[in-house]
Amino acid sequence: MRKQIAAANWKMNLTYQEAETLLHQVVKNIPKLEDQQHVVFAVPAPYLDLAQDEIAPKYQVYTAAQNVYTKKSGAYTGEISVIMLNSLGVDHAIIGHSERREYFNESNEMLAEKVQVCLENNITPIFCCGEALQVREENKQNEYVAKQLEESLFRLPADQLQKVVIAYEPIWAIGTGKTATSEQAQEMHAHIRNHIAKTYGLNVANEISILYGGSVKGANAKEIFGQPDVDGGLVGGASLNAEEFLQIIKALK
Ligand code: 13P
Repeated sequence: MRKQIAAANWKMNLTYQEAETLLHQVVKNIPKLEDQQHVVFAVPAPYLDLAQDEIAPKYQVYTAAQNVYTKKSGAYTGEISVIMLNSLGVDHAIIGHSERREYFNESNEMLAEKVQVCLENNITPIFCCGEALQVREENKQNEYVAKQLEESLFRLPADQLQKVVIAYEPIWAIGTGKTATSEQAQEMHAHIRNHIAKTYGLNVANEISILYGGSVKGANAKEIFGQPDVDGGLVGGASLNAEEFLQIIKALK
């Protein structure tokens, strides 16, 4: 059975003290999770150690970095490596968020390297894909997302690909309050799964969790997560509010 995941992406928000309060409020109120249900906190790098401490007593709750570098160590000022994450016990990393693609020029090729270095070092990559508004208006979103998957993930052998979590985040729905309809989300998630199945077979495709991201909140999570190919969400703004994020966790299948 594939994993159902509620992942918080705090982005570049909160002070240390605010982070501590929020983690505390959420973690202590997480309901008992079913075997297939996971919760992930992608917190800013300076708070990873704090988050590790806060989640320690909880089963199936994980921390994630919001980015990693392609190299494992060396003279790369300001970057974060998988070895550092390993040493903190951090086991997930968001790779290729649209904000990193847009503001930091991360290409599909570079993201292929980042996914690879994560998998080689036991970090689960949460690989983001998704189209801009213009691509959607031209009705080219399926080809666009297929290319992102092909160029960043399809060099992996099946046993490695199966370890990747995919997050579909249409850029026009991020931080805009404009969620994709549950039909639009389901349509794209089914397309992603079918595209994987064409190359890797249905068994592999059916094992991969595909999260939806873009204006997920307590009020719409249940409907979106209820779609057959939607396996949870990657949540920005609403994950900064304890009650909202708890409601999203409770909406997992
Ligand atoms: P919002 O939930 O704020 O739209 O952000 C989505 C996102 O980018 C999560 O990675």
